[in-house]
Amino acid sequence: METFEMIQSRKAIREYSGQITDEQLNNILIAANAGSAGMNEFENYRLTVIQKPEILSQLTGIYGAPTVIVVSSTDDNVMAGNSAGTIVHGMELEAENQGLGANYNMACLGSIPVGVVPDAFQPIFAITLGQTTEKFTHREIPLDKFKTNFVK
Ligand SMILES: Cc1cc2nc3c(=O)[nH]c(=O)nc-3n(C[C@H](O)[C@H](O)[C@H](O)COP(=O)(O)O)c2cc1C
Repeated sequence: METFEMIQSRKAIREYSGQITDEQLNNILIAANAGSAGMNEFENYRLTVIQKPEILSQLTGIYGAPTVIVVSSTDDNVMAGNSAGTIVHGMELEAENQGLGANYNMACLGSIPVGVVPDAFQPIFAITLGQTTEKFTHREIPLDKFKTNFVK
């Protein structure tokens, strides 16, 4: 799909019909790694792919997603949140590119069992992923969804 069309078709998907393949996961991780880290501090971030049913069943608000990828950081500040946003957004768009369902997720962060994310890293943002039967179609995006001030 053409990039601008893909951006406009993106939507939160909360119904999943199956697990993603390892190849699909690999592409999503490439997209994550195409993200940015403030101050070039890539070592301050860690990705954790969760597909183990015993762990997934302990996560709240993931809508039965078969894959959750958590971005964690050594920092818990605006820079970390913004960096995690770029990482997760890239994954979300690549998921859509592959026809997968995905959604940004913060609801699960507090329920991640100790030891899942490496010591010294705290969960910042996550994405839920899975196969979906939903289709991505053009959405009319109102230009005032985010009110905009022009200074010119
Ligand atoms: C920072 C952030 C956190 C979010 N956390 C959740 C979440 O925990 N659970 C959820 O279902 N959706 C979550 N969302 C998705 C939004 O609810 C969703 O994008 C919004 O309803 C707009 O829908 P759309 O993405 O289809 O345009 C989050 C989005 C952002 C940007």
